[in-house]
Amino acid sequence: MNTAVTGAELLRRVHGLAAGGERVVIGIAGCPGAGKSTLAGWLVDRLTSAGLPAVWVPMDGFHLADVELERLGRRGRKGAMDTFDARGYLALLRRIRAETATVVYAPSFDREIEQPIAGAIPVPPATRVVVSEGNYLLAADEPWPQVHAAMTEVWYADLDDRVRLDRLIKRHIQFGKTPDQAARWVAEVDEPNAARIRTTRERADLRVDMDALGI
Ligand SMILES: Nc1ncnc2c1ncn2[C@@H]1O[C@H](COP(=O)(O)OP(=O)(O)OP(=O)(O)O)[C@@H](O)[C@H]1O
Ligand SMILES: [Mg+2]
Repeated sequence: MNTAVTGAELLRRVHGLAAGGERVVIGIAGCPGAGKSTLAGWLVDRLTSAGLPAVWVPMDGFHLADVELERLGRRGRKGAMDTFDARGYLALLRRIRAETATVVYAPSFDREIEQPIAGAIPVPPATRVVVSEGNYLLAADEPWPQVHAAMTEVWYADLDDRVRLDRLIKRHIQFGKTPDQAARWVAEVDEPNAARIRTTRERADLRVDMDALGI
């Protein structure tokens, strides 16, 4: 376990994992706003440019739809662990590892409408690396340990809480919340989730200090 890794070291690590020829699936776990999506996007761009075709497949695509959250009475805490189709995500990860001769389609999550979109992300046969990311990849509750096992490695994105909360609130405002609504959502929804996620970081294959990355 190492925290002060650079972006270049992460790229070398993935190239090493892919050297055997098997498709590699890297997961990035971490608290809301820690920079998981930013790191995933960076990795996918850099790996693809370096000749290792990579695709970003977010866990966020497995948010339950609002219509189902309403039915379950969970709409008010969207983003909590039981508001995701975890077993659907696990099945997709297994398909991504096993079905390398045909396109596997993954769902995306549209932040403007806050809904998952089926069939939005193609994982073509040439894909050598899939980078996935989400809050609960290292959780102890079933089926999340199987999600960890279905990935080649799961990393934990670690970021100082002050910086993280500042970015998180800004991002909620950017996607339409008022400053008051953003602060309330962070306090009532994001941070209780963060407290739970933080307890999972010891299970990571690698802990990444997001400030030290230099990406
Ligand atoms: N190095 C950086 N400097 C400044 N802002 C950053 C940096 N990295 C990420 N951000 C911003 O911080 C916010 C959170 O980053 P990001 O969306 O990557 O986090 P996340 O872990 O995927 O969050 P969530 O769990 O909510 O999906 C975004 O608005 C992003 O643009
Ligand atoms: Mg994200």
